[in-house]
Amino acid sequence: MRKDLHITGVKFGCGSAALGKIETKKIMATGKFITFEGPEGSGKSTHIKKLAYFLKTKGIDIVTTREPGGTALGEKIRSMIQHSVAEEVPVDRAELLLFLASRAQHVDELIRPALDAGSWVLCDRFYDSTMAYQGYGRGFDLDELKALNDFAVDGMKPDLTLLIDVSPETSRARLKRRHSRTSSSPDRIESEVDDFHRRLRDGFLRLAGSELERFHVVDAEREQRVVEIEIHEVVKQRLLTPPTP
Ligand SMILES: Nc1ncnc2c1ncn2[C@@H]1O[C@H](COP(=O)(O)OP(=O)(O)OP(=O)(O)O)[C@@H](O)[C@H]1O
Ligand SMILES: [Mg+2]
Repeated sequence: MRKDLHITGVKFGCGSAALGKIETKKIMATGKFITFEGPEGSGKSTHIKKLAYFLKTKGIDIVTTREPGGTALGEKIRSMIQHSVAEEVPVDRAELLLFLASRAQHVDELIRPALDAGSWVLCDRFYDSTMAYQGYGRGFDLDELKALNDFAVDGMKPDLTLLIDVSPETSRARLKRRHSRTSSSPDRIESEVDDFHRRLRDGFLRLAGSELERFHVVDAEREQRVVEIEIHEVVKQRLLTPPTP
């Protein structure tokens, strides 16, 4: 375990420059990798913060991060994707490759070194968002997408994926509340039509159904505290309880 890394507490790419010179040798990861997936406004960011707090109280080093983003390069890509001016809007293939570029950088520069150093990584969106948005949402071939995604992650697989699931109606209502509270406006992907958001949600549920051992679907229509308790329980059962001999 390399204690010199000081990765704990790195948030959303801050301090990633300090990691630039770390060699990313593939050694056995000792930390756990948890990804949060789901539609916009379902509560991913809310529950990542709560889970990070809960795990820190158990003495675990936590790195919280997000996609696209998590590194200096990734954050630049994020802003290109989300807030591109009219004449710079990426075509669908370019958008996909931008997401994947951000992910490849993220895995090598932040996620793998953090896990190798024994930290647990909580990541807001990862592999499955590409399958849901670009596959089920935009209609890219799922097998081709999987091959590209596999290339980008270079073998990095979440130990647990929490699908924070809400209906498109709830998602829209929560985003509306957030925008009126923060006086912000919807980004390019939030502004997609309803049919896109329905396909997205169905896509996430299908992905979860096809890999039950990795996914846990959380019904996030319920009160926030109830959702939070369920997430803690699942993490305790799946990742904190030692396997019985
Ligand atoms: N179970 C819940 N019940 C009611 N409101 C909730 C619940 N979970 C989250 N919220 C609220 O919904 C809003 C969206 O939550 P949050 O920002 O965590 O979603 P998100 O999944 O991270 O969204 P995005 O994909 O846009 O980043 C916030 O105002 C949050 O307080
Ligand atoms: Mg969020």
